[in-house]
Amino acid sequence: MKNIKIQAFALTLMLYGISSAAFGQKVNVQQQFNYAEQQTNYMLDELKTADTAGGLVSPRTFENGKFKLVNTKDWTSGFFAGILWFYYDYTRDAKWLKQAQIYTAKLTAEQFDKGTHDLGFMIYCSFGNGYRITGDTNYRKVVIQAAKSLSTRFNAKAGVIRSWDHNKDKWTYPVIIDNMMNLELLFEATRLTGDSSFYKIAVSHANHTIINHYRADYSSYHVVDYNPETGAVIQKNTAQGYSDESAWARGQAWGLYGYTMCYRETHDKKYLILAQNIAKFIFSNPTLPKDLIPYWDYNDPAIPNTPHDASAAAIAASALYELALYSPGSDYREKANTILANLNKSYKAPLNSNGDFILLHSTGHKPAKSEIDVPIIYADYYYLEALLRSKMTIKDYAGR
Ligand code: GLY
Repeated sequence: MKNIKIQAFALTLMLYGISSAAFGQKVNVQQQFNYAEQQTNYMLDELKTADTAGGLVSPRTFENGKFKLVNTKDWTSGFFAGILWFYYDYTRDAKWLKQAQIYTAKLTAEQFDKGTHDLGFMIYCSFGNGYRITGDTNYRKVVIQAAKSLSTRFNAKAGVIRSWDHNKDKWTYPVIIDNMMNLELLFEATRLTGDSSFYKIAVSHANHTIINHYRADYSSYHVVDYNPETGAVIQKNTAQGYSDESAWARGQAWGLYGYTMCYRETHDKKYLILAQNIAKFIFSNPTLPKDLIPYWDYNDPAIPNTPHDASAAAIAASALYELALYSPGSDYREKANTILANLNKSYKAPLNSNGDFILLHSTGHKPAKSEIDVPIIYADYYYLEALLRSKMTIKDYAGR
């Protein structure tokens, strides 16, 4: 009798399209992956005839009616390969393995790039996922070399990794909140090599960022400029946000994800507490819409007549699934479910449209009037990662 009841309950959940019944989850991962894979198949077709002159290798956005690719040096170059790895991870279909290998291989030279802090995004999302999923030792070597290249950007006096080399007239030693995401590559390199120097750099960067990037309300500045000789902070401002004192939506999501990951890697409670406080800032913000997809900046006075940033929501959802595992009794998992449900409902591109990206309505760089209310590849990456994470347990995070 008990078995019949359990079967009937499971059947009811299936009829409602609920795939992870044990957690009351409302996201049908299989259905969303089916759609996403079809969309990416169209994109792969489009890539066969796309203009790749000038070393364009990886899709970034669909803007002003144009499908836009980037070269390997672009900070977003690793996301498409990462998406292909997610499909392979989920389906184990050799077709996705082949595509993931092809698009990952295109980025090989970037392991030696010392001119950017974005190697975490570029190499960890591509080669890092590839290594995690296949154990290919060639990928392992690339991850380690990339961590060495990234480490050259660390200044011990300031205690942080330099983000940008451009706009030298404006900043001396700029560090942006986004840089928290690149630390995962360093933690991985210590795990792979036993060399703790990568770990120490990551921890130093995370600690200085808590002190210098975070405000009393747990929102974050975008850019903090350091004096590399003394380590003193010169100025705090923004590049992509509404104003120096505003809370740029994606920056808050990078911090939430970054400190959740730092807690996983170090078990240092202060990172967990900060991540929880960042979540509190985001979800108690009066400008956050009911669907939990934020406007591009929490302080844009034009709200609600201003664009959303679906990428910030996707990054936050992915972070929240992990943070929920470290925060028993929290509602983070329900929040992540709500975000995904709303992205699925109202933010998805119709099949074979919008450059064949998955999510609509992200905002890249509004002050520069660039990539406003468009699909962007990193929104798709973190959306798919969030779908996968919705099924993950604490054990699945070990070593990643
Ligand atoms: N890391 C650059 C951005 O989030 O736009």
